Amino acid sequence: MGSAPSPPRGSRVAARDHCLSPVRSVDRPTGAARYGRMFRDLAPLGTDPKLLIRAGGDGGICAAAEALDQLNAGGDDAAEAAGWPFFGQLIAHDITADRSPITGGVAVEALRNARAPMLNLEIIYSDGPIGSPYLFDLADPAKFLLGPDGGDVPRNQQGVALIGDPRNDSHVFVLSLHVALLHAHNHLVDLLRAGGMPESNVFDAARTALTWHYQWTVVHDYLPRLVGAPLVRQVLAEGGRWFAPRPGEAYIPLEFADAAFRYGHGQIRHTYRLVDGGAAVPVFPDLVGFGPLPTDRRVDLTQLFDVPGRPPAQRAKRLDGRLPASLIGLPEQVTGTVDAAAYRSLAVRDLLRGEATGLPSGEAVAQLMEVTPLSPDELAQTWPHGTPLWFYILKEAEHRGGGDRLGPVGGRIVAEVLIGLLRADPGSYLHREPDWVPELPAAGAVFGLADLLTAGDSHDRPSGAA
Ligand code: HEM
Repeated sequence: MGSAPSPPRGSRVAARDHCLSPVRSVDRPTGAARYGRMFRDLAPLGTDPKLLIRAGGDGGICAAAEALDQLNAGGDDAAEAAGWPFFGQLIAHDITADRSPITGGVAVEALRNARAPMLNLEIIYSDGPIGSPYLFDLADPAKFLLGPDGGDVPRNQQGVALIGDPRNDSHVFVLSLHVALLHAHNHLVDLLRAGGMPESNVFDAARTALTWHYQWTVVHDYLPRLVGAPLVRQVLAEGGRWFAPRPGEAYIPLEFADAAFRYGHGQIRHTYRLVDGGAAVPVFPDLVGFGPLPTDRRVDLTQLFDVPGRPPAQRAKRLDGRLPASLIGLPEQVTGTVDAAAYRSLAVRDLLRGEATGLPSGEAVAQLMEVTPLSPDELAQTWPHGTPLWFYILKEAEHRGGGDRLGPVGGRIVAEVLIGLLRADPGSYLHREPDWVPELPAAGAVFGLADLLTAGDSHDRPSGAA
């Protein structure tokens, strides 16, 4: 019997019902989580959407040239490795999913977050073995089910990923990190069993161990690189000045979801190498997901993260207010059907979201935080009443963070929110055992994200992937 023809890549989800489609009419958020604000007293900026569309569209100030990577090889390299923003994207998916249409029409107070505002790896565990049984291995229910050769996630017969958040299937990099976390969980199950843990406790213990390693990595590896270690230490010691929810009362601030934490869009390169010596391939359309991950599209994680004993990985793009061509012209698989071509641009979407949710200007937030606002020269663009917060934070990273890390406004928002969410989560390591340290082994002097992502390597993983 011949095998069934494989469906065309990325076209399984009816475009209008795609999770990111601006006109999606099904699966609107029903969860209880609400968004909130950090700077309640600051007035909305109010910028003409036409200006935002011009700035964020093709040829606008937020668009980096398509040929940038080739023309200027290494010239826009940041200090940090290329994988860090993709880890940021995983974090974003773990804590915020505003599924309201980009075309507007939903009152800000009515917006719902389809994710719990906690760093709890809901992206992989979803509702757990009881609520989401299709994620787990029937032959060994404490473990995640993987794709047939262990290099992909499981998929239904139409190629749709069986995972906790469909956005983690949007391109090969975020999917590869997702797969690495599934392996890390399964590896922890093996370790706990080998240590004699009673079977009835194994799943919960592995889940807590993975989640705490992830949370610790966010605080001790990811955040110091992104905002600087002194600010992380300060927020840990003194708490948040603008975001300090009580336990169980956390929410995602719109200043974070619709501006500061979208910084990562400015760190994505247009092209990447997947394996050592491989060709540089554009993220979109070449590496779009939403279908089985072919073996020639598997990512060697040492190309994304520096791993002791291996050559340095590729670098992330420098932060400079511009997005690569892949993100200025997102493919339809990512955006769903759009009525206006401008909605293909992620920069347009970022700017319009900030406008729709009434965010203040970057200058207003800088003033409130008592930091010197960027000068018109640094901003390189004059806006009628002030600079949209998202764009301001990218330019601040360019001029106050050397293009490698966030400046005082962006850094403070991100550090206060991520640490504040952990403190307010009664199950987090920071709430329950703030002095806890990772138990998994480290390849270098201190444990880091690369150790977490490679923890499950020995584990039914295809050779070649780190
Ligand atoms: C190739 C990489 C990426 C793609 C294709 C992508 C795409 C998108 C899209 C289509 C949206 C929805 C836009 C809207 O309608 O408002 C979005 C939202 C968002 N992105 Fe990304 N993104 C990428 C990387 C990142 C990175 C690296 C970060 C952070 C480090 C990030 C953080 C966010 C956040 C915080 C949101 C708002 C989510 C919400 O509240 O629902 N993204 N992204």
